Amino acid sequence: MTPTVLTTPARATPGSVSGFANDVRHYLTQHPRQLPSRYLYDDLGSALFEAICRLPWYPLTRAELRLLEAHAREVLDAGITTVIELGSGSGDKLSALIAAAGSRRGRLELHLVDVSSSALTEAGQALERLENVRVVTHRATYEIGLGEFGLARSVGGRRLALFLGSNIGNFDPPGRDAFLASVRSAIDRGDALLLGVDLRKPVRDLLLAYDDPLGVTAAFNRNLLTRINRELRGDFELDGFTHRALWSEDSSRIEMHLRSNRSQSISVREAGLDFVMGEGEMIWTESSYKYDPPEIVSMLKRSGFSVRAQWIDAADRFALTLAEAV
Ligand code: AVI
Repeated sequence: MTPTVLTTPARATPGSVSGFANDVRHYLTQHPRQLPSRYLYDDLGSALFEAICRLPWYPLTRAELRLLEAHAREVLDAGITTVIELGSGSGDKLSALIAAAGSRRGRLELHLVDVSSSALTEAGQALERLENVRVVTHRATYEIGLGEFGLARSVGGRRLALFLGSNIGNFDPPGRDAFLASVRSAIDRGDALLLGVDLRKPVRDLLLAYDDPLGVTAAFNRNLLTRINRELRGDFELDGFTHRALWSEDSSRIEMHLRSNRSQSISVREAGLDFVMGEGEMIWTESSYKYDPPEIVSMLKRSGFSVRAQWIDAADRFALTLAEAV
């Protein structure tokens, strides 16, 4: 059976408790049981994700940074006046890109879109220290941030959208195509998109990246249950669940699950939910799709972009693709 997959982006957490409760009730009663991966990122979850990015077994972040630094001048050419980063987090990647582009760039207006106000404040302060930049922050989901950006045309010149960190990998294919189409409609013909995507690689490397020997990814995954317990008065017993990372060759994705270690009753009071999980039953918490370089070119083409350059980190198998809106 091909299970229903989550269609929502990874890091676009709506703020309301009732939205969270509705989603928990809806997704936990699906077959198989699921939880949207965007809820992995509360304060502790975000800190655990930052720690994952430093693990020797999770090379994505370092590979992407190497590519950004090596190709900054081609990405941030003199014609770019405005940059929007969707899911800007700490702002480190954008800072590195601007620093590596050096003095050839002109004045820049930077739009940062993130759901975390603390991350936006930190990133905004760091980026404002750079010369010749103006920072606009949008505490918003990707969709709302893109809408606000589409309306804000204060300067002329070309615009560059950044979607980095392989966040595109957390969309299922229909959600991915819809997302790329929404980026395309927020920018004009001739504007650019820079997409960072993790590539297919040996399965043992992928499994180590998503089930690391230090257990940080397991903590990141199980923290979702802690969040439900705290915010929605749930009673998940943490020792009742084990982190599982599985590779699906057919779908070319890593899946994270939480496996019930025993038969157990669970209640989530704010979601009005009482249910029983059998031993071995799983809750599917994230999909992380991996691509080959030509697939990235095709998905961009289908969404109204033409690829100008694709740079690949051969050691860790990561791609940065620069595309132009056509
Ligand atoms: C945010 N996203 C691109 C990460 C990924 O690799 O899919 C989230 C993550 N999940 C487990 N480790 C990292």
